[in-house]
Amino acid sequence: MLAHSAGTSVEMSSVHTVLVFALVAAASVTPVYALEFCQSTDRDCHGHDKKTSPDAIRSRWNVNASNLMQDLDQFSVSCTKLIDAFPLDKVDGNFVRTVKNCIFSKSIPTPLKGPLRLAAVSKDVLEGILNLDMAVTQSEEFLHYASGGKLLPGSVPLAHRYGGHQFGYWAGQLGDGRAHSLGRYTDRSGDGRAVIRSSVREFLCSEAMHFLHVPTSRAASLIVSDEPVMRDQFYNGNVNTERVVNDTAHLIAQWMSVGFAHGVCNTDNFSLLSITIDYGPFGFMESYNPDFVPNTSDDEGRYSIGAQADIGLFNLEKLLTALSPVLTKKQQKEANVILKGYVHIYQMRFHQLFKAKLGLLGDEEADSYLIAFLLKASQ
Ligand SMILES: *[C@@H]1O[C@H](CO)[C@@H](O)[C@H](O)[C@H]1NC(C)=O
Ligand SMILES: *[C@@H]1O[C@H](CO)[C@@H](O)[C@H](O)[C@H]1NC(C)=O
Ligand SMILES: *[C@@H]1O[C@H](CO)[C@@H](O)[C@H](O)[C@H]1NC(C)=O
Ligand SMILES: *[C@@H]1O[C@H](CO)[C@@H](O)[C@H](O)[C@H]1NC(C)=O
Repeated sequence: MLAHSAGTSVEMSSVHTVLVFALVAAASVTPVYALEFCQSTDRDCHGHDKKTSPDAIRSRWNVNASNLMQDLDQFSVSCTKLIDAFPLDKVDGNFVRTVKNCIFSKSIPTPLKGPLRLAAVSKDVLEGILNLDMAVTQSEEFLHYASGGKLLPGSVPLAHRYGGHQFGYWAGQLGDGRAHSLGRYTDRSGDGRAVIRSSVREFLCSEAMHFLHVPTSRAASLIVSDEPVMRDQFYNGNVNTERVVNDTAHLIAQWMSVGFAHGVCNTDNFSLLSITIDYGPFGFMESYNPDFVPNTSDDEGRYSIGAQADIGLFNLEKLLTALSPVLTKKQQKEANVILKGYVHIYQMRFHQLFKAKLGLLGDEEADSYLIAFLLKASQ
């Protein structure tokens, strides 16, 4: 697992650039992420405080909007947990290099220049997760925070080193690093930018996925400027094998239930939190077709919609291989047993979701046949 090289496949493209202020990567499922965003009274940001689950945050929001922060100066993030837990890159600065013996590099976002415009905001993320009043988006200050010109109090922007299997093969050092972790969120890259079209797609689809109840990364806002920029694509990054296997199976079953094809299920496009990340050439099926491939260049259909469940397993196997050196023999055995349960969990969840779609109550032996029959018939 090594990589932090800004821009392996950088190309110049659109004049319109956009910066995604995705402060929260995973609010819908994991309390940990939401809790990385602390109010200034809460310096250390203890991620596991049970009292503040995202649900609690949301219900507080629903119940009493006057508790929302109206002043960005009250808003701070904490990075201490990450920095204390992992060694930081000794080298400072934003340039392409191999990073050794550490996980994070400090990396100050390059601010967007020129007139900035707020292109979109997710009220739900802003209020429900970040506890910010929508009024803050009207301020110049918000544009600067969101476009990398100003750092949030407490923020140590970090770039994450990563590597992965691409299209089935170990790809070694990767890193287009459009992501910066500002507190505990990620947006991977040297400069934290992307072209507007793909960012708007990501913004819209991740919101749609959230409201379809599919776990996903989310963005709080999109800031647009006219500054030309180098182009690239998106990202993210105590493993509990059982949880990861279970949640991955659930996630992919949910993708299937809404006809979502991720498009590029490389290992580094999968989150350990089992949320949908990295919206690239994704697509939704227009009509049922297990061979549906949203990436028009994926001729072999490696990442066809019908292959996603298998790919999920492949990725989990690679994860286990990567973790094996730090697991005892006993743990490795246990992990293998857990991994064997993946298929069952997936099938069970798939079955459950499709039963719900069809409005099937109770448990009939013929349910599975009916589901399979209807899917086949709709091809
Ligand atoms: C909402 O919160 C404010 C400040 O904390 C408080 O003064 C007010 O009474 C609360 N309103 C309700 C309806 O709970
Ligand atoms: C498996 O994951 C789903 C969805 O994340 C969750 O609701 C369920 O409780 C999990 N089951 C176990 C055994 O962890
Ligand atoms: C998926 O992963 C590969 C690296 O493995 C990367 O090149 C690609 O841009 C990623 N994301 C998308 C959306 O394609
Ligand atoms: C689409 O698939 C092709 C062929 O496998 C691959 O080279 C390309 O990187 C994929 N597109 C993206 C955006 O990842």
